[in-house]
Amino acid sequence: MKYHVAVLPGDGVGPDVVNEAIRALDAVGRRFGHDFKYEFGLIGGISIDKYGEALTRETLQMCSRCNAVLLGAVGGPKWDDPKAKVRPEDGLLAIRKALDLFANLRPVKMLPLMENSTSLKAEIVRGVDLLVVRELTGGLYFGKPKRRWKTKSGSRRAVDSMVYTEKEIARIIRTGFELALKRRKKLTSVDKANVLESSRLWRQIAQEIAAEYEQVKLDHMLVDTCAMRLIQNPAYFDVIVTENTFGDILTDEASLLSGSMGMLPSASLAGIPEGKNPRAFGLYEPIHGSAPDIAGQNLANPIATILSTAMMLRYSFGLGKEAAAVESAVLNVLEDGHRTKDIMSDGMKQAGTIEMGKLIEKRIEG
Ligand code: IPM
Ligand code: MG
Repeated sequence: MKYHVAVLPGDGVGPDVVNEAIRALDAVGRRFGHDFKYEFGLIGGISIDKYGEALTRETLQMCSRCNAVLLGAVGGPKWDDPKAKVRPEDGLLAIRKALDLFANLRPVKMLPLMENSTSLKAEIVRGVDLLVVRELTGGLYFGKPKRRWKTKSGSRRAVDSMVYTEKEIARIIRTGFELALKRRKKLTSVDKANVLESSRLWRQIAQEIAAEYEQVKLDHMLVDTCAMRLIQNPAYFDVIVTENTFGDILTDEASLLSGSMGMLPSASLAGIPEGKNPRAFGLYEPIHGSAPDIAGQNLANPIATILSTAMMLRYSFGLGKEAAAVESAVLNVLEDGHRTKDIMSDGMKQAGTIEMGKLIEKRIEG
């Protein structure tokens, strides 16, 4: 079977880690007899430099012709001028909206062998295995009105709007339920229903949809409580479903539970991953940023991006067995004591980006 993957390495360490992810996918292809074809494009700062835009129409069209998108990272100090007309992040927001990637899946898992590499106490993070399902194409990020103006009296004002339609809420809540069904069957819907009208609609729709998923236990939590609970008792959570901005903030917080940002993958899907072999179009990327200070130095941890390809195999190609092979290859290499610099500790063997990629490649090949 042939799979077309659009590859957007982006800026900073993006190209470093994406190379290793391709190495892993190719190893999956050899072992399981699949053919992965890659088409490359630019996004972020590198696209601004070449075309004056963070994402061109051609790149977008190339992505929509493919079966999935693999993305590295965008941004860097070179494009950070607050007065700049275009920013690398614009490319990310544009691709999410244009490809309708409404469901952002961010799994956070504490591997027992990483328990001592976090800033939190081992007994707090022990057993953490949660999945945040963040709505990605609505809310404050995209709601209208969104603008800045000067009032008659000359003072400045600005507005962003947290807008949600019933359809937008229903599809992300369903995504949360579907994913909870495949896990520990517990869904926490996070909102701010004590203050926000959009959250009250959110909560009501979550309650209505719950009737279709009797096997899943649904609870509602206010976002401020959730922020606290995440560091007080993170093992409480299975699947969290929440709107765009809340999800942005909570996932940065949750990422600290796993030891290193360099280990966390993500998927952004354009469909609800239903059934055993879901096949939604999706974009896959590590959750860490472009880390320009270590770009091109063979220092970045490729694991997050390699684990993102496992999510691609599972959610876009319906290849669950292949996805599990990538995940266990990563685990085995860690068990063998190999570490990139960001997760290095006493007695472990340090590996560069490329060495880590090659170790995982070998394990995938079996
Ligand atoms: C993320 C990032 C983005 C977001 C930025 C880079 C626009 O923080 O993916 O969480 O806010 O969604
Ligand atoms: Mg964020």
